[in-house]
Amino acid sequence: MTFSPATLIAKKRDGGEHHPTEIHALIEGFQDGSLADYQMTAWLMAVYLNGLSDGEMTALTKAMLHSGRVLNPRRRNGAPRIDKHSTGGVGDKISLPLAAIAAACGLHVPMISGRGLGHTGGTLDKLESIPGYDTQLSIQAFERTVAKCGASIIGQTTDIAPADKRIYALRDVTGTVACRPLIVASILSKKLAAALDGLVLDVKVGRGAFMKDRASASALAKSLVQVSTKLGTPAVARLTRMEEPLGRTIGNALEVRESIEILRGEGPMDTTELTLTLASEMLLLAKVCHSRSHAMRVARAALTSGAALERFAQMVELHGGNARVVERTALLPKTRFQVPVHAPQKGFVQHVDALALALLALELGAGRKRAEDKVDHAVGLEIFVQVGDRIEKGDLVAKIHTRKHDPHHSRAVLQAIGVGAQRVERPPLLVGRAIR
Ligand code: URA
Repeated sequence: MTFSPATLIAKKRDGGEHHPTEIHALIEGFQDGSLADYQMTAWLMAVYLNGLSDGEMTALTKAMLHSGRVLNPRRRNGAPRIDKHSTGGVGDKISLPLAAIAAACGLHVPMISGRGLGHTGGTLDKLESIPGYDTQLSIQAFERTVAKCGASIIGQTTDIAPADKRIYALRDVTGTVACRPLIVASILSKKLAAALDGLVLDVKVGRGAFMKDRASASALAKSLVQVSTKLGTPAVARLTRMEEPLGRTIGNALEVRESIEILRGEGPMDTTELTLTLASEMLLLAKVCHSRSHAMRVARAALTSGAALERFAQMVELHGGNARVVERTALLPKTRFQVPVHAPQKGFVQHVDALALALLALELGAGRKRAEDKVDHAVGLEIFVQVGDRIEKGDLVAKIHTRKHDPHHSRAVLQAIGVGAQRVERPPLLVGRAIR
């Protein structure tokens, strides 16, 4: 390493700005062992406290991206490679139907996804509830799948952004996860490794998201778009509300079932519309469509014609999964108990607390409390009410899919669903305009 680690740490501690060569040296030194884990941890804390300038953030993303393999796809067939990334929410299954819709519209979607993080669900855990689905394809098989059916969803391989993997593990145990520049570099170093022509970012905001308020979500969205674009991948971000769970289900197999329902045109209206909006952003970014209304029509046609459902089945099959789940969702894992929860009083639904329901789903086994925990794909929650709904005493408001009956769980569901006499309007999922 050409710079002394202690000097670089002290520079950031004292609020100085690094030259890109210094950031490059930090990541290179971390990779070759000349900068120890404890030194990286000290630097990360200095960044947490003092931040990074736009230039530093871009240099860090670039260095982390090039710490590993950057794909060089040969068989593009002229199709633009466009991906979507969500910053993480509750019941957020959108990647599944979205990848299939975009593929049916002629895009290539090489999606490198993650597992559940904290209380938020992960796309890989959801897909692994499909019997046989392999999320660990080799890069060659991944590219073959993209070329054949237009979409493939896999996990981060060991050679994609390895610096991020190690840095994330340090951040996770040293209180430095919730830091905008570090989040930007972490997300983009993985996503840009897929050699994209465009990236759509769904930045979640609210109680069920990592970004709890609009100002911090907006700042994250702007930084993600700016750094991605600077590094040669045009990007667009949408802010979406994450106060209530997205759609009707939380839990892996349940969310796959709901994704298939969306692809069959039987999904909840607002989740379907959000999926189509994000698909239209992908089509606009790819310059396949030139107006928002045209892009929405093209995306909707892929859904209503059944072409997107067919793409999803093809993708599942190419990953070794049982594609018959598309016709028979009963083939997905199920729990023995499905406990109904009824409304104790009439009124209007005031709120549905995404975070409380996500923590309950975690308690049931739908996610991991520790990295080594095994996920139970069958457990989860179905929520049948949304903010603004009028309900009567005794109405079915939720169903708990569980291995063991526990009255505490029903009470937790009812506590998360606030009911009152006041009529309320449900706010739209999309917050503000697209950030480019
Ligand atoms: N997701 C990531 O991949 N990295 C972060 O730092 C936060 C969310």
